[in-house]
Amino acid sequence: MCGIVGYVGPRDAAPILIEGLRRLEYRGYDSAGIAVMTANGKVFIEKKAGKLTNLTEHLNGDTPAGGPGIGHTRWATHGLPNDTNAHPHADCTGQLALIHNGIIENYVEIKARLVAEGHRFISETDTEVLAHLIETKYHGDLVEAVRAALGEVRGAYAIGVMHTDHPERIVGARMNVPLIVGLGDGEGFLASDVPAILEHTKNVVILHEGDIADVTPTGTRILSLDGTEVQRDTTEIRWDIEAAEKGGFPHFTLKEIYEQPHAIQESLRGRVAANGSVRLTELDGVADRLREIDRVYIVGCGTASYAAHVAAYLIQEWVGIPATMQVGSEMRYSPPPLDERTLVIGVSQSGETADTLAPLKLAAERGAAIVVVTNVVGSAITRAADAVCYLQAGPEIAVASTKAFVTQVLVLQMIALHLAGLRGTMPSNRIRTYGLALRTLPRLAAQTLKLAPQIKKLAQRFAGARDFIFIGRGVGFPIAMEGALKLKELSYVHAEGYAAGELKHGPIALLDPETPLVAIATQGAIYEKVASNVAEARARSAPVIAIATEGDDQIDHYAQDVIYVPETPEAISPVIAVLPLQILAYEIAVARGTDVDQPRNLAKSVTVE
Ligand code: M6R
Repeated sequence: MCGIVGYVGPRDAAPILIEGLRRLEYRGYDSAGIAVMTANGKVFIEKKAGKLTNLTEHLNGDTPAGGPGIGHTRWATHGLPNDTNAHPHADCTGQLALIHNGIIENYVEIKARLVAEGHRFISETDTEVLAHLIETKYHGDLVEAVRAALGEVRGAYAIGVMHTDHPERIVGARMNVPLIVGLGDGEGFLASDVPAILEHTKNVVILHEGDIADVTPTGTRILSLDGTEVQRDTTEIRWDIEAAEKGGFPHFTLKEIYEQPHAIQESLRGRVAANGSVRLTELDGVADRLREIDRVYIVGCGTASYAAHVAAYLIQEWVGIPATMQVGSEMRYSPPPLDERTLVIGVSQSGETADTLAPLKLAAERGAAIVVVTNVVGSAITRAADAVCYLQAGPEIAVASTKAFVTQVLVLQMIALHLAGLRGTMPSNRIRTYGLALRTLPRLAAQTLKLAPQIKKLAQRFAGARDFIFIGRGVGFPIAMEGALKLKELSYVHAEGYAAGELKHGPIALLDPETPLVAIATQGAIYEKVASNVAEARARSAPVIAIATEGDDQIDHYAQDVIYVPETPEAISPVIAVLPLQILAYEIAVARGTDVDQPRNLAKSVTVE
């Protein structure tokens, strides 16, 4: 969604804001803008449609001295992505400037009232009503005006507000979208996410829903919407700004692909012992509930839903109770049976995805046990949970998910083994065999990434294809869908993922010599069935690229191009099989010249339903 950043302190705000926006651009890049209070007590606002570079080129280094200041990078919801709709927005006096991430659901009625009262609106956004609404409540106390205004709005928001009467203050507030306060030495920050301010401070306060933060250089006061002061813990960020840099790679996407062996290692840390036994201590607090459950739903969106899909297969097989994947955006409005014997596992890299949060809240209301799998410490999803399992993958900046997917699958595999151990549905020696296999994954992933030169050549050959079909069966099916999604996102090439057995029920009509078929054909119980499906495609003259297991001497009868990956037990194989697909999508995107790290129309986290 959008990214917001704010600064109050002795330094000039503009360079801090622009650098912060650069680090938040993964959240949206339809427009960028800043507001700075100048030395003569006026608000300077500059904003431009398009990426941050449009704004910086327009400014050409000519930013005003002074502060405080606020900045915004937009993923458009209400109103076209043009200069006028870009944030910050001002009130009628021009003294107040505001930035917003989220959606104000009742903005139409508020706007009508404000227009009738004589307020002049310039943009088509829902956000602008907040600036004017706060204006109506303002009688010298900015914090109180923000609090009073927010009492009248419905929806989701993280806001930053500044006013010329308050040169030593920025006010932030949060509801259902993230906002943190950075505590510097004689300065204060607001940000949607840690990277925006990490070079200035490692001490942050993660605001809770309904918090209003009065940020000044000397400290931050936090109020709830009813006006009572509340205390929030300070969190020390344990990673460095280098983790959010490209580190010599041409794209974050490629860097994150190559970080996967390390990310896997970190995800395994403390969870799989040297003898292979698997235990997630994060689940100890809900052990009694996990023993009682009789069904499991695993919910996520996009890539996270494919990780959830893998987990559903494994839990069903290993734990012996019904387990299904639920797409977040559908589950809330067509909920399955939910009660206190249900386990719902929410999967979300960002921990902010509204489509995933909503069904989790519904499930909690109906008494289900909630376990979440996320990468972002303190994110909204963690507050909806009875237990939290972190990916421990480090920050993922590229919009298209790679290392988060792999670690989501891995953490879910460990949860499935943990459940099987807890409920005695799998002998402990078998669990340890899987655990030991998991421990080989960092090495096997590194080995698989060495296939990049072969995959790059393939990508260059097929970069001109208009459509791709991906197929897989069993745990290979979600991997086929993830491979197709990665290709769509990164290269804008049309691609679909199908269950291999379904090919003959319709999609086979799409195959021709111009339509490559990518088959996940690693070794497993139904390898031969997949091979037959591949043969059916080959008979229709489709060029076939197979992802197969090293030592497979059959597959090249069916596929012209084979990418051989290291052998793993079938249940573990998705972690390895997806790696060539990520590289294929990346290299096709590079060959086609698309914007790899920030694909058009997308945002890293989607905080609206
Ligand atoms: O942050 P989340 O894991 O909840 O995000 C879910 C999806 O929006 C996300 O995985 C999306 O599909 C990515 N663009 C995939 O690359």
